[in-house]
Parts: sequence; C-alpha cells; structure tokens
Amino acid sequence: LASTEVDLSPIEEGQAITVTWRGKPVFVRHRTAEEIEMANAVDVSELRDPQTDEERVQKPEWLVAVGICTHLGCVPLGQKPGEPKGEWGGWFCPCHGSHYDTSGRIRKGPAPLNLPVPGYEFIEDQRIVIG
Ligand code: FES
Repeated sequence: LASTEVDLSPIEEGQAITVTWRGKPVFVRHRTAEEIEMANAVDVSELRDPQTDEERVQKPEWLVAVGICTHLGCVPLGQKPGEPKGEWGGWFCPCHGSHYDTSGRIRKGPAPLNLPVPGYEFIEDQRIVIG
C-alpha cells in the first residue's frame, strides 16, 4: 500500500504503536506532557541534525517517525513497555548504541541523522494518513 491510515483514538497517552508503511516500521507515539517538554528543552544548535520539535510534529502530542536507525538500519527499541528508551527518553538502538530523544532526534551514538518524519496528514482529529 502506498499510504497507511492510522486510527489514533485507541492509543493512550504514554503509549506507542508501530505501523507498517511501504514495508517500513513507522513509530506513532502519543507523547505525555513531560515527553513534549523534554523534546523542547534543548538548544537546537547543539544537535547533530538540528531540528526543532515544532518542525517535526503537526500536533505536539503525536510524534510520527520512521522507525529505522539512521546508522545502519536497525529498528530502535522504546516502543513497547519495558524496552530501553535511551538517555533522552525516546528510543535506543541496541545495534551500536544510538540514543534518540522524544522527538526522534539523534542525541548520542553513531547515527548521523534524526529518525525521518514521513509525509502524513490528519484527515480527522484522531486519524492520520501516512504517505
Ligand atoms: Fe543503530 Fe547502528 S544501526 S546504532
């Protein structure tokens, strides 16, 4: 399928799901107020791949990003309860130790770039179409 529709309504605050879009995992996380705050509490000029959180989300509570580490393509951990989320509370790639923050931006480790944000749109308040 070229595009993937996702119903966000069952995803509770603090929960995340992984959907498949064009054969790739896409992380959809319903961020908590604390996670949003963490995403904004950074001097963007110090980031390896400088992007504000605002540039990466359409609504602060929803983070949508391709779940493929930009180093060598492993799927980072942090989607499921109990998985390590790394030092910045986002995702941790176990292959070579890349840490991503709650905006999916690379903060530590060998990955060169942030997790890519796919094109998507809200077709309803709680429903998106990716691609
Ligand atoms: Fe993720 Fe190398 S593939 S750190």
